[in-house]
Amino acid sequence: MRILGIETSCDETSAAVVENGRTVLSCVIASSGKDFEKTGGVIPEDAARKQLESILPVIRKSIQDASMTPKELDAIAVTFGPGLLGSLLVGTTTARTLSSVWNRPIIPVHHTMGHLSSTWLCDAEEDSEPSFPILALSVSGGHTDLWYRLSHTEGRLLGSTRDDAAGEAFDKGAVMLGLPYPGGPALASLAKAGDPSAYAFPLPLSKEKTCDFSFSGLKTSLKYLIRDLGKAMEHPETRASVAASYQHAICTHLCRSVEYAMQLQPDAKELHIVGGVSANEHLRQETMLLAKRCGMEIRWPASLRYCTDNGAMIASAGYFLLREKPDILSGSFLTKATAKMGE
Ligand code: KG4
Ligand code: ZN
Repeated sequence: MRILGIETSCDETSAAVVENGRTVLSCVIASSGKDFEKTGGVIPEDAARKQLESILPVIRKSIQDASMTPKELDAIAVTFGPGLLGSLLVGTTTARTLSSVWNRPIIPVHHTMGHLSSTWLCDAEEDSEPSFPILALSVSGGHTDLWYRLSHTEGRLLGSTRDDAAGEAFDKGAVMLGLPYPGGPALASLAKAGDPSAYAFPLPLSKEKTCDFSFSGLKTSLKYLIRDLGKAMEHPETRASVAASYQHAICTHLCRSVEYAMQLQPDAKELHIVGGVSANEHLRQETMLLAKRCGMEIRWPASLRYCTDNGAMIASAGYFLLREKPDILSGSFLTKATAKMGE
């Protein structure tokens, strides 16, 4: 089964064709992120306007790259939310139109479901398939969730952020350090030359036994550290060490909640790290050490392209959703899903 996946929830416009939920036949991603370097964040109206311009060329290219024609597609999967309302409308309206023109069913996909499926994506079929139960840490600019998953459609949310998302902590920290948007990769790159143990940050929620997260305290600590360092912040080494210590604090906090989740769900076979922040090398190192210690298999998306927002993960989630819940294709489900758009 070949599904076209469409993702337009934030500043990316992406379309991909994925076979049987796993093999990526094509994946095209256009991002307007560069336009927002100066504003330090996405301006929703501008993002949606760009998406309106690029959605059809991106879809056309994804079908061409897969060496297919629209007739050979079995279904269209599209992100219905959560995300920026105007951006989501560009994707869902296009998907609905193509669904009626091509006479193909449409599968509404929750954005987080897409990220959770991203560890199934591969460019070659021989990659081993993940096995449930799975502990999945989904870390992006919009959410930070820890899931215990029994299948693609069953599971339990063990914890989530009480304030900012992990990606937001990176992005806001980057703004304080004078780095361009999107801050995560810029902060990670600055941190490479720094010492992660140079400055101590208080560990959030350290007195609680919880799988939740909180990043607002770290952000405030960073603000005061920069203020207290004053002129010293002009030294490249100091700046790098501040970035490395802040990044280390975010990762340590993420790992602590994951470790607690492992104690709660000792039957989990694999640990998956997904979402934009799963591209972070320091997080990968720290979670790998943790998984090794606990004897668990660890996975993150096979390519960095599948960590941040992309259409392939939406096509994959759509496939598994359809396999486990075939009634998803009924009109009433889609109406309910689109009614929830923007939540
Ligand atoms: O999943 P995603 O593309 O979009 C949302 O669903 O939000 O995640 C984007 C987030 C941004 O906050 C970005 O700064 C962060 O992922 N990010 C990173 C890295 N690459 C992207 N954060 C830390 N290190 C990275 N290498
Ligand atoms: Zn995302």
